[in-house]
Amino acid sequence: MFRRVPGTKDILSGETDYWQKIEETSRNIFSLYNYKEIRTPLIEDATLFNRSLGEFSEVIQKQMFLIHHGQDVYALRPEGTASIARAYIENNLDKKEGFLKLYYIGPMFRLERPQKGRLRQFHHIGCEAIGSAGPDIDIEVISLASAMLQAYQVYGYKIKINSLGCAKDKIELAAILKRRLSGKTNNLCDECRKRFENNILRILDCKNESCRTLVNALHIGDSHLCNDCKLHFNAVKNGLDILGINYEVVGHLVRGLDYYTRTVFEISHNDLGSQDALCAGGRYDKLVSELGGPDVGAIGFAFGVERLLLVANIQVPKDTEKKLTYVITLGEEARPYGLKLLKELRKTGIPADTDYEGRSLKGAMRVAGDLKARYVVIIGENELKKKTVMLKDMVSGKQNEVSEEKVVGELASWRV
Ligand code: HAM
Repeated sequence: MFRRVPGTKDILSGETDYWQKIEETSRNIFSLYNYKEIRTPLIEDATLFNRSLGEFSEVIQKQMFLIHHGQDVYALRPEGTASIARAYIENNLDKKEGFLKLYYIGPMFRLERPQKGRLRQFHHIGCEAIGSAGPDIDIEVISLASAMLQAYQVYGYKIKINSLGCAKDKIELAAILKRRLSGKTNNLCDECRKRFENNILRILDCKNESCRTLVNALHIGDSHLCNDCKLHFNAVKNGLDILGINYEVVGHLVRGLDYYTRTVFEISHNDLGSQDALCAGGRYDKLVSELGGPDVGAIGFAFGVERLLLVANIQVPKDTEKKLTYVITLGEEARPYGLKLLKELRKTGIPADTDYEGRSLKGAMRVAGDLKARYVVIIGENELKKKTVMLKDMVSGKQNEVSEEKVVGELASWRV
């Protein structure tokens, strides 16, 4: 027997109701905020991600799904931001549309060690606003994430924000860390000792106890931020205060992808355990120009759908609410009429199904019950002769013999 690849999931019917509901809710909210959908390919030139996410980021170092084809190396996309920046440049969207607000829903791939909340194929619901460097769009994007959480009825989440500063400030922050940590690297975990050499900012948000203690004692603060970046961050905080959005400034929040500048944020939930990030995002003001496009500011976020589903309180319609009609035909002669009736019902917008396994009346009635069908139509020899059908309401037990041409109308009136 074949088994699914570790870290992937079959999303079975029943579960898909929740997926559809979360997607539909998200689409509605994106539309309220005037974000338009974009769909980019699942595969990209691998170099796109090397250039965007940073050569020493964990995703590039350890988690890329690569496909070698002749001289070409493709990657299954590990995230959406780089692809959208690529699409923005390639399709000249800056010239055609200028400032753009985009959203996306779809699978992402990372070759992780699978564990709870950490998959190799997972899904993002995300957005990217490209073309503005001002703080107002940071405020909108964070408030949009918060509005989505309210719509999904997630309670008890925490919004953490920070500013990394502009590209120059990030270099300054790295230099401060290098100075203050040199001579103390023995107290860092193995991973952070490597990071000290090639990805020093990531030491700031390492979860290891001794790294945490060391980092806390450094009292990094915001001394690395230039005046403009301080003003920007203050404006973002002010805007969130005005909108009544609760957040916490977390100085060691740096995020794992290199493209971030200025505002970064993460939304976490305690019920998720060690993989507690529900959503993450931030500004990436240099990414579009570094990929060969115009010098434009941009910001976005992505929710992890699998994690969202663990904490969301989403109501989906019950099978009984669909008010399915189940058509039972008895004998060969009744079958064509049954099939025609099914077609008519569906055409009228009435959900309908039938037995495809040649069951007896008793067996077919049992299936109708299992399917939570609200109505059953029975067409037997007698009914066929009289050009009638037997209509049964499975909840009230009400049963009517109805003439052939009236059955669709009668069912439609029963359903209201
Ligand atoms: P990220 O933090 O790598 O950011 O991923 C965003 C969210 O995806 C995480 O907070 C988490 O909920 C979920 N996630 C990530 N990896 C996994 C996994 N292996 N299994 C299950 N869920 C996972 C980004 O990808 C950025 N592109 C977000 C962004 C958009 N920044 C700006 N715009």
